[in-house]
Amino acid sequence: MSRVAVLGGGRSSEHDVSLRSAAAVAAGLRAAGHDVVEVDLARDGGWATRDGAPVALTPGGGLLGCDVVFPVLHGPFGEDGTVQGLLDLLDVPYVGSPVLGSAVCMDKLVFKDLMLAAGIPQVAYEPVHARDWEADRERVLSRVEALGLPVWVKPSRLGSSVGIAPARTPEEIAPAIEDALRHDARVIVEASAVGVEAETAVLGSGDAPTVSEIGQIVLTSTDPDAWYDYEAKYTPGGMELRIPAPISPTAKARVQELAARAFTLSCCDGLARADFFVHGEEVLLNELNTLPGFTETSAYGKLWEASGVAYPDLVSRLVALALERHERERAQAF
Ligand SMILES: Nc1ncnc2c1ncn2[C@@H]1O[C@H](COP(=O)(O)OP(=O)(O)O)[C@@H](O)[C@H]1O
Ligand SMILES: [Mg+2]
Repeated sequence: MSRVAVLGGGRSSEHDVSLRSAAAVAAGLRAAGHDVVEVDLARDGGWATRDGAPVALTPGGGLLGCDVVFPVLHGPFGEDGTVQGLLDLLDVPYVGSPVLGSAVCMDKLVFKDLMLAAGIPQVAYEPVHARDWEADRERVLSRVEALGLPVWVKPSRLGSSVGIAPARTPEEIAPAIEDALRHDARVIVEASAVGVEAETAVLGSGDAPTVSEIGQIVLTSTDPDAWYDYEAKYTPGGMELRIPAPISPTAKARVQELAARAFTLSCCDGLARADFFVHGEEVLLNELNTLPGFTETSAYGKLWEASGVAYPDLVSRLVALALERHERERAQAF
């Protein structure tokens, strides 16, 4: 059994969601017999233990005498490699992807460029950089309009659908780009995918991951234009995960194969949720989330439960994987 520091909260707009995920992970670890220390990361960036004592960090000094750290942080300053780099400097093993995998999966443009180079199927897309937009917006718009309508306009590095908007008419494109540029100086505009939104959960070391059963995101809204926006994600009852997803055996095998390949290609480790659009036999990768929602009712836990891995076993396996990786990395010369 290990002494595990669970990090929750953080500076992103997903602070509260992270606290709920962290509480579930802590309970799961305790149920599996681990000793848990909860660390709250405040919105202003400070770290404190549950008794309110500020946490002092010393490079090379580990974290609160713990064997391993379980960051349960979503979005910028937590899921994007920043906290992972800090944990590397503290020299403490941690659950989940290292700096590179975390950063790659947080940046939609870099991630999609990497998947494109590897031939992983995905929607067509165009990058929009603030400087190009300011220099010649007509030129940018003509590139973007070639994607057809609707297009999906997104800040390159956020999560929880924040700053994302579908543009259904040509007039909606420029305001959507302006809005996304307020969140990030790099924006991605994507062609629209159709079909089932499918999710699968990846678990294991970077080069030998296992992939769970597949679920379908079903929105409970009756609005025909509804999509998986912030409200649908976080309003209780806003969505349901249907497991197994109603897709063909060929599509299912393809989702699982692509999830594992994308996980390895993007230098992930430990865990990720892989999201797809499935239309008949066509499977397009949408994204990998390296620290997905982690309550017992979140997709990641439910998908493993449906695949025969109970929640306490799941969090325990992740701790074991973190310790194994740290051991492997220590054995390498640098
Ligand atoms: N290219 C697309 N085609 C169709 N729907 C999309 C597309 N991109 C995003 N969406 C919708 O928007 C949601 C959020 O987009 P996503 O890229 O997953 O952002 P986030 O990282 O915030 O979850 C998706 O779950 C889906 O419902
Ligand atoms: Mg998503």
